[in-house]
Amino acid sequence: MTTALPFTRTTNPQPATPERVAEVLAAPGFGQHFTDHMVTIRWNRDQGWHDAAVEPYHSLELDPAAMVLHYGQAIFEGLKAYRRPDGSIASFRPQANAERFRASARRLAMPELPDELFLGSIRELLAVDGRWVPSVAEESLYLRPFMYSTEASLGVRPANEYAYVLIASPAGSYFAGGLKPVTVWLSTEYVRASPGGTGAAKFAGNYAASLVAQAQAAEQGCDQVVWLDAVERRWVEEMGGMNLFFVLGSGPGARVVTPELSGALLPGITRDSLLRLAADLGYGVEERRFSTEEWEKKAESGELTEVFACGTAAVITPVGHVKHAGGEFSVSGGATGEVTLRLRERLTGIQQGLVEDPHGWMTAL
Ligand code: PLP
Ligand code: COI
Repeated sequence: MTTALPFTRTTNPQPATPERVAEVLAAPGFGQHFTDHMVTIRWNRDQGWHDAAVEPYHSLELDPAAMVLHYGQAIFEGLKAYRRPDGSIASFRPQANAERFRASARRLAMPELPDELFLGSIRELLAVDGRWVPSVAEESLYLRPFMYSTEASLGVRPANEYAYVLIASPAGSYFAGGLKPVTVWLSTEYVRASPGGTGAAKFAGNYAASLVAQAQAAEQGCDQVVWLDAVERRWVEEMGGMNLFFVLGSGPGARVVTPELSGALLPGITRDSLLRLAADLGYGVEERRFSTEEWEKKAESGELTEVFACGTAAVITPVGHVKHAGGEFSVSGGATGEVTLRLRERLTGIQQGLVEDPHGWMTAL
C-alpha cells in the first residue's frame, strides 16, 4: 500500500464569481459557505487508500445501506488556514490534526489516513481554492476533513469501505457576540462521555449526543453546556466544542489550570498550544482535575479571576457566568480578564503571522 498517492484534479467549470467570493468574505459567519472544490480519497480492504481526487464541490452519493447511516462510523477534524501579511497562506498545526484524526480512526475501528495524505489533501485544496482564504484580521479558511463508512451492509462490524473528504469554509467569529463573555450551563443530567467511551475522539456521535443538553442550556438562558465527568458529576471536562481554562490569581503570579486529559475529553490543539504559550508568558501551568465546587468557591472568594474556553472554531471565548440546577454565580463580575486577553493576542498574532512563531506551528503546505 502506497501513501504517496497522486491526486487527480478536475477544476470546477463554474466557480464562484470574484464578486460572490468578495460578498462571502465580507461576512463569512461560520460554516455557511463552501469553496469551489473538495478532496476525496477512498479506502477499501483490498486496495487500501486509493483514488485521491480534487473535484468540484458536489453532493455525496450513498447507498441506503451505507453503514455510516446505521452504525455511525464517522469522524472529523477542524483546522484553519490563514492569510499572512505577505499574502501567502499557512495552516495552524496541521500535523497535530493529522495525528488526532488517526487516533479518532483507531477508536472507531476505521482505517488510519497516513499523515502525508491528510496534509496532501490540504495542500491540494488550498492550491485550487486559495482565493477563499480571507485577508481580514481574525478571519480564516476553516478546513473540515472527515471520514465515514460507505460499505452497503447491515452487519454490525467495522466496514470494509470508507470515504475521506475535505471541504473548506471561510470563517469569521464562531459566536455572534465576538469576545463577549458567554454564560454556561453545568450539565448534571446528561453526560457527553464516560470512561472507556469515545470522548477523546472527534467522533460525530459525541456531537449528536450533546444536542439535547445544548437545548437544555438554551432553555436556561445559557450559550453553552459544560460537561462534567460521568461518574461523580463534579469534575469539569470541557464545553460543546471547546476546552476550558481557569485562571487563579492575577498579575505575573497568575496560574492557569485546565482539566487533565482523562480520556473522556478531546485533547484540543488550541488547549495544548495555550498551555505552552501560558508557560512562555511566565504563568504557572497546571493540568489537573478541577471540580464544580472549586469553581464556585474560588469564584466567590475572588481567587478564581478568569475562565475561558478555547478551540479552533471559537479561538478563545471568555466565560463570565455559570448556571446550574442549584443556582448561579459569576467570575469577576463577568468581565473579560487580562490573562485571557494576553493569551488570545499571542495566539491570534502567531496565527496571523504578526508575531514570532517560536514553536514553528504555522505550516505553509
Ligand atoms: N472539545 C471539543 C468537543 C471539540 O469539538 C473541540 C473542537 O475541535 C475542542 C474541544 C477544541 O479542540 P481544538 O483546539 O483542537 O479545536
Ligand atoms: C472546531 O473547533 O474545529 C470544532 O470542531 C468545534 C465545532 C465547530 C464542532
